[in-house]
Amino acid sequence: MAEAKAEGKLSERLAGKVAVVSGAGSGIGQGCALMFARHGAAVTAVDIDPTALEATRQRAAREGLSLETARADLTNPEHVAALMDGVAAAHGGIDVLLNAAAVADFLWIEEMDYERHWRRTLTGELDTVFLMCKAAWAHMKGRGGASIINFASANAYVALKNSAALAHTAGKGGVLAMTRQLAMEGAPHGIRANSISPGLIVTGATKPVLERPEFVAAVKEKLMLDRLGKPEDIAWAAVYLASDESTFVTGADFRVDGGALAW
Ligand SMILES: NC(=O)c1ccc[n+]([C@@H]2O[C@H](COP(=O)([O-])OP(=O)(O)OC[C@H]3O[C@@H](n4cnc5c(N)ncnc54)[C@H](O)[C@@H]3O)[C@@H](O)[C@H]2O)c1
Repeated sequence: MAEAKAEGKLSERLAGKVAVVSGAGSGIGQGCALMFARHGAAVTAVDIDPTALEATRQRAAREGLSLETARADLTNPEHVAALMDGVAAAHGGIDVLLNAAAVADFLWIEEMDYERHWRRTLTGELDTVFLMCKAAWAHMKGRGGASIINFASANAYVALKNSAALAHTAGKGGVLAMTRQLAMEGAPHGIRANSISPGLIVTGATKPVLERPEFVAAVKEKLMLDRLGKPEDIAWAAVYLASDESTFVTGADFRVDGGALAW
């Protein structure tokens, strides 16, 4: 489907939902924040990068949509708690938490420094998700159907040739497992938790590796569909998981990857 232009709202699928979207300054998080707003959610777009957040806000405005923005470092427990308490105070609670913010270092094991790369990646991919879920939890309980959407990866399932993704595979395997546990713990409280595992999506994070022909060749060889993914491909799955259309879906992982993991 073509990217939405200036038509503003597309539907009311998320009407009445209060959504917090992290990593909303770039790539998948930005695509999801815009898509949630197009479908009627009240969106708080969160990122560590204020310039990127402002670009997302302006992009929404050009479509006739409004987004609230909040700058926070999601590795900082105090920032995260203040963020969630602020959103809940302003809107009466939180219905949807989408955790797309992450940082990762892509290096072969011999180049990977414990503190600078390994710990930074696991903090950037796992702690960010844990802290957001923990701080949002009390505000999501008892809403009559809240939804957490986390991001694992095709790399949680397979090692891709030519990809130096050791710490990233550990982080995303962790998100996959953690999301199942969140689903179990959340069920009695009306909180669903699911993950999306994207294949290769063209974003700021993947721009450097997309400049390496041997990496692109390895990715394309695994694809059934003859193109790379776009943030909108992921955002459509996220709209379903955020909406009441998916109230029987929890503990699931949606592989949105052009068929890469299916053969
Ligand atoms: N792009 C892909 O091919 C792909 C594939 C599989 C999984 N994923 C996952 O999808 C998610 C989004 O990926 P993307 O490619 O859009 O990334 P991206 O780098 O384009 O965007 C991530 C955003 O998160 C923000 N961020 C990073 N650390 C932060 C922090 N501590 N606090 C607040 N904001 C922070 C960044 O500023 C950035 O705007 C990530 O979890 C990523 O691992 C992406």
